[in-house]
Amino acid sequence: MAQPSSQDGVLDRRRRVAVIGAGTIGASWAALFAAAGLEVRVHDPSEDTPARLDSMWQQAAPVLADLGFDPSDPADRLQAVGSLEEALEGADVVQENGPEDVRFKRQLWATAEQIVRADALLVSSTSGIRASAQSKEMNDRSRVLVGHPFNPPHLVPLVEVVPAPETRNELVDEAVAFYRALGKRPLVVRKEVPGFVANRLQSALFRECVHLVADGVVDIADLDQIVTASLGLRWATGGPFLSFHLGGGPGGLPHFLRHLGPGMESMWGILGDPRLDQDTVDLLERQIASAYGDSSIESLERRRDRQQVSVLQALSSSRAPDSRAQPAEG
Ligand SMILES: NC(=O)c1ccc[n+]([C@@H]2O[C@H](COP(=O)([O-])OP(=O)(O)OC[C@H]3O[C@@H](n4cnc5c(N)ncnc54)[C@H](O)[C@@H]3O)[C@@H](O)[C@H]2O)c1
Repeated sequence: MAQPSSQDGVLDRRRRVAVIGAGTIGASWAALFAAAGLEVRVHDPSEDTPARLDSMWQQAAPVLADLGFDPSDPADRLQAVGSLEEALEGADVVQENGPEDVRFKRQLWATAEQIVRADALLVSSTSGIRASAQSKEMNDRSRVLVGHPFNPPHLVPLVEVVPAPETRNELVDEAVAFYRALGKRPLVVRKEVPGFVANRLQSALFRECVHLVADGVVDIADLDQIVTASLGLRWATGGPFLSFHLGGGPGGLPHFLRHLGPGMESMWGILGDPRLDQDTVDLLERQIASAYGDSSIESLERRRDRQQVSVLQALSSSRAPDSRAQPAEG
C-alpha cells in the first residue's frame, strides 16, 4: 500500500521541497509532500494559489489519510510564497509543475541551479518535454531529470523517472528513493521517447476508443464499461504481458504468441486511424454529456478517488505474485 516510509533516511535528507506551479499537478504534489511531513514552499504567480492549495488539501486529505499519511492541518508545513527565489532557497527537492512550455522550464532550471545546493533534486513533472531539452541553459546539465506523475499524484502510485543521457546516476537513484519513500512506485524509463511510456500506451488505446465511437460500433458509456469490466480490472492486477502469459495457459506467453499471436498481429493493420476533427469532437461532447452530464466533475472525482483507494487497499492486502514486477511499496 502507498504509505510513507523513511527506510533509508531519504526523507530526512530531503525535508524541504519547492513546488513550482500549483495547478492540477503541483497542488496535488504539494498536498502529498505536506502530508508526508515535509516542509513545502509553493510558488505560483496566480493570485488564487493559497485558495487552490486549500481546496486541493480538502479534497486530498481524506484520501491521504486512507493511504496512511498525516491528514492534520498542514498550515505549518505548506506555505505559498511570493517569489521563485523564496521557494528555492534551501530546497532539497524542486518539483516543477509550471506551464508545458520549454522556455519556462529552461529559465527555471537556469535560475534554480544558482540557488539550490549542488545535489538538490531538480525534477520536472512534464508530460512530454525531455530533461535534455529543459537543461539547455544550465551550466551543469547533469542536474535535471523528469519525475512524471499520473494524475492525481497524491493518489496514483506511478512516477516515471526519465533522466537525460547526461543526468547523473546518483540523482536518478536518489529520485527513485525519494518517490518510493513517499509510497509511490517510481520506474526508470531508459530513453527519452515522446510521451514516455504510460502516455504512449494511453494514447494507443484512446485512438482506438475514438475510432470505435466515431464509427458507431459502441457509445462512450458502453465503451467505458467494456474497459472497466475487463481490461481495467485485469490490468490493475497484472500488466499486458503477465495477462497474456496467463492467457497462454500452462504454456504461458510462448504458447500464447504461437497460438493467438498471428491473429493479434493481423489486427494491427486494421485498427482505426481517427482524426479529432470538428464532427468527431462534437460527437464525443454529446456522448460524454449524455453518459456523465448528470454528475458534477467534483463528485465524479470523489468517486474515482474512493474507488482507486479501495483498489490499492485490496491489492495491498493480497500482494500479487509477480513481486519482481510489482515491488513492495514504501
Ligand atoms: N494535468 C495532467 O494530467 C498532468 C499529468 C502529468 C504531468 N503534467 C505536467 O505537469 C505540469 C503542470 O500541468 P498542470 O496540468 O498542473 O497545468 P495547470 O495549467 O493546471 O498548472 C500550471 C500552473 O503553472 C502556473 N504558472 C504559470 N506561470 C508560472 C510561473 N512563471 N512560475 C510558476 N508557476 C507558473 C499557473 O498559474 C498554473 O497554476 C505540465 O508540465 C504538465 O505537462 C500534467
